[in-house]
Amino acid sequence: MLSPRITAIGTYVPQRRLTNFDLEQMVDTNNEWIIQRTGIKERRIARSDEYTSDLCISAVKDMMLRYNKKIDDVDMIIVATSTPDFPFPSVASIIQNKLGIANAGAIDLSAACAGFVYALHTAQGYVTSGLHKKILVIGADTISKITDYTDRSTCILFGDGAGAVLVEKDVKSNSFIGFHLGSDGSGAQHVYRRGLSGTVNDTELLDTRYLVQNGREVFRWVVRNIPDNIKVILDKTQTSIDQVNWFIPHSANLRLIEPICEKLDYPMTKTLYSLVNFGNTSAATIPLALDLGIREGKVKDGDKALLYGFGSGLVHAGQLLEWNLDEQINAPKPL
Ligand code: COA
Repeated sequence: MLSPRITAIGTYVPQRRLTNFDLEQMVDTNNEWIIQRTGIKERRIARSDEYTSDLCISAVKDMMLRYNKKIDDVDMIIVATSTPDFPFPSVASIIQNKLGIANAGAIDLSAACAGFVYALHTAQGYVTSGLHKKILVIGADTISKITDYTDRSTCILFGDGAGAVLVEKDVKSNSFIGFHLGSDGSGAQHVYRRGLSGTVNDTELLDTRYLVQNGREVFRWVVRNIPDNIKVILDKTQTSIDQVNWFIPHSANLRLIEPICEKLDYPMTKTLYSLVNFGNTSAATIPLALDLGIREGKVKDGDKALLYGFGSGLVHAGQLLEWNLDEQINAPKPL
């Protein structure tokens, strides 16, 4: 029986910081409001000539260096993103070429902020079935490029980042314990990006490229639905919540994570999130949070990590993992 194991992780965030104080100069807001309503202090913003593929490549290089990994034998690349460099070609194809991976398939996957967990689920299926042996799974977004910096309820939330993991065929250990996922398209109007090509002309596209959201409705949907969906994974895998060492929900807003933990009766001290210094980086929040946990020496071999992503769609997806990476050879660079 072939088992998929997550063997290595790497992350990257752009250099430029956008603090709450910077935002005070841009829209009618203030540091206290943002901290109180979201828990976010700052975000990283890509340069105008820096795109999602660039962030992915830096995250993969971080992973290769830390875990002494070669990637020339990767046979599939899956990039979860809502902000590709181009509508096509895919980010995965761009990085396949730039990283010199000769014999790999390459696809982008669209599941918004749940994208990284959906990509893991896809990789698990490919390896378990024997179709692929070594898969690069990346969650990356440059949401700053589609953010309306005149909309104060939206622009305070988002930042840019990327996280990459390798899912490899293994004969001994399986990282994937159980999953649950779903979609509620009836809430699609609550968070979406305007300007689908083919439906509006180019002039309109320029004016309507932005992410639009009804934050209050998204908030309500998450708090009402996500805790019960998380319980489905626990039931399926006959795991009690206190057997979960780390809970890693999508880092949308700290005030969203708190009621989820409360409903699950799970301590915030064992919850990992990346939003304080990076904001909501969409498909990158979960790998960034995991990597912060590794960098801080919290997440250890054998730990059970419960990942749960949710976002535009509205979609959601979770994975219960047993964390068992290869040995890290080099310390990561500070983020
Ligand atoms: N600074 C100051 N005031 C602000 C503000 C800001 N940045 N943004 C909104 N406000 C104001 C509103 O205009 C409103 O004023 P009013 O009462 O005079 O009309 C008031 O604050 C409350 O607005 P509300 O929308 O109810 O705030 P909120 O507590 O729900 O917080 C979000 C807004 C967007 C932070 C919050 O709803 C949220 O995070 N939702 C989830 C969004 C999300 O996760 N999206 C990604 C999907 S993965």
